[in-house]
Amino acid sequence: MPTERHSGPIVVIGSLNMDLVCRTEQIPQPGQTILGSDFVTIPGGKGANQAVAAAKLLEAASRTQVVMVGRVGDDDFGQRLLNGLKLHKVRSDRVIITEGVASGVAMILVDKMGENSIVVAPGANAHLVPADIDAAESVIRTASVVVLQLEIPLATVQHAIAMCQRLGIHTILDPAPVPPTGLTRAMFGVDLLTPNQGEAERLLDLEPTHTVRLRKIVDPKQIAMDLLARGPKAVVLKLGNRGAMLLDRAGEIEHIKPHKVAAVDTTASGDAFTAALAVAHAEGRSLIESARFANAAGALCCTGFGAQPSLPGREAVEKLLAETPG
Ligand code: RIB
Repeated sequence: MPTERHSGPIVVIGSLNMDLVCRTEQIPQPGQTILGSDFVTIPGGKGANQAVAAAKLLEAASRTQVVMVGRVGDDDFGQRLLNGLKLHKVRSDRVIITEGVASGVAMILVDKMGENSIVVAPGANAHLVPADIDAAESVIRTASVVVLQLEIPLATVQHAIAMCQRLGIHTILDPAPVPPTGLTRAMFGVDLLTPNQGEAERLLDLEPTHTVRLRKIVDPKQIAMDLLARGPKAVVLKLGNRGAMLLDRAGEIEHIKPHKVAAVDTTASGDAFTAALAVAHAEGRSLIESARFANAAGALCCTGFGAQPSLPGREAVEKLLAETPG
């Protein structure tokens, strides 16, 4: 049983979006109109999802807090997004309400296989500036880990990483969505990088060969090695229904086997995975143990519909791991 190494907060710096979700038989082709069903609005955003996921994955008796740093608009969606954080005991006092700006929204289609396509209109997320990170330095300097994604301005992400490096704080970067310009050298310099295979291929400028249905795969071990050479101290590659691959600078390399689950909706499963890595790090677990824990959290997330409602709790993840260790 791991002992809790830090009681410092898990700080998540990133986006909050209201997800506008519609189920469809299939994702439409360009120029095609199709009928969907079940339109719903669900709190999401990669940052907020990771914060809520981390809070749900902490042990009930844990003293570790989760703190969200981000921006919402001064609209109804913004209030609902803040309520979503509070409901899961995520500290929201570092989320700034931005006057005269709409909250971020994500238009999501989920097909009958549970696969999705997402377009994000960043809204207030685009207003999170480096000065907001400076304003949160007092909490960041106490963090056990800082988690970032790429739905906020890249200059802000880079500024936060530089601050964490100066303060010696462990950083996890989920490079999603991959910007058209890729990552700067400084952004690669995190402690842990957690792309999925498609993101990894874009980061490495490879021809995207991965499609879930055809299972056509570039060797994930090679991808992880090529990413590690760009600067992170460790890489955990999320492979969806093929599990995960981890690689670190000490030469540790491991394929984590997938859990067999019935996928309903894959939205936020990558967020659950990254959040679980952060929780496991805060608890002092090894990278392999952390990746197994994360692999189970990501798999369980696929079994529910919507982003935040489908994020699994600690008990469910422990149960799955006890049944099939991965
Ligand atoms: O990772 C899933 C999330 O991506 C959704 O909740 C959506 O808001 C987009 O940010």
